[in-house]
Amino acid sequence: MAKIGLFYGSSTGKTEAVAYQIKEEFDKQAGAGTVEVHNIGSATPEQVLSYEYLIMGIPTWNTGELQDDWAVFFPKIANMNFNGKKVAIFGLGDQNGYGFNFLDAVGMLGDELMLHGADVYGVWSTEKYQFNESKARIEGENYFIGLGIDEDGQSDLTAGRIQQWVKDVKAEFNL
Ligand SMILES: Cc1cc2nc3c(=O)[nH]c(=O)nc-3n(C[C@H](O)[C@H](O)[C@H](O)COP(=O)(O)O)c2cc1C
Repeated sequence: MAKIGLFYGSSTGKTEAVAYQIKEEFDKQAGAGTVEVHNIGSATPEQVLSYEYLIMGIPTWNTGELQDDWAVFFPKIANMNFNGKKVAIFGLGDQNGYGFNFLDAVGMLGDELMLHGADVYGVWSTEKYQFNESKARIEGENYFIGLGIDEDGQSDLTAGRIQQWVKDVKAEFNL
């Protein structure tokens, strides 16, 4: 079994594409087969908890809401024990179109995972983004709780962001 389970939800395919880019980058940096990719829409809590290391991918939809498949899975987290699990989160959003709710779902998912024992790694600087408000932002800090990807407005930065974030997470996971 792979070391890392990556679980994503995606309504128009952008988060899914980024999920596979992250998997490929881990293959390059940490060896082939480091990451297994799953759609959260067909995943079970047991499957999620079978991994010691987790990456969660979530876009924000409907102005500050969870993506649909994540919205279905989200209530199950309350009955899951993430103690000892190392989790990194990435999210997709649109800073130009939704600047008051940029990447909100990343913050909502992060809070819920931490509430149920997860240790969250892979924080990411807010510096190169322009937005007004974001639940993904760690209060009082210039960091998001996870990697922010904006395929709508900053797709030219995506490959570089993934490369650096995978490097960071690999080191923080001690892989
Ligand atoms: C109706 C609608 C609502 C959206 N709401 C938000 C939002 O509140 N915050 C945000 O950062 N992005 C928002 N987005 C942008 C999406 O998160 C973005 O396009 C993302 O890449 C979609 O990912 P997916 O293809 O994996 O579903 C919204 C997009 C649409 C079309």
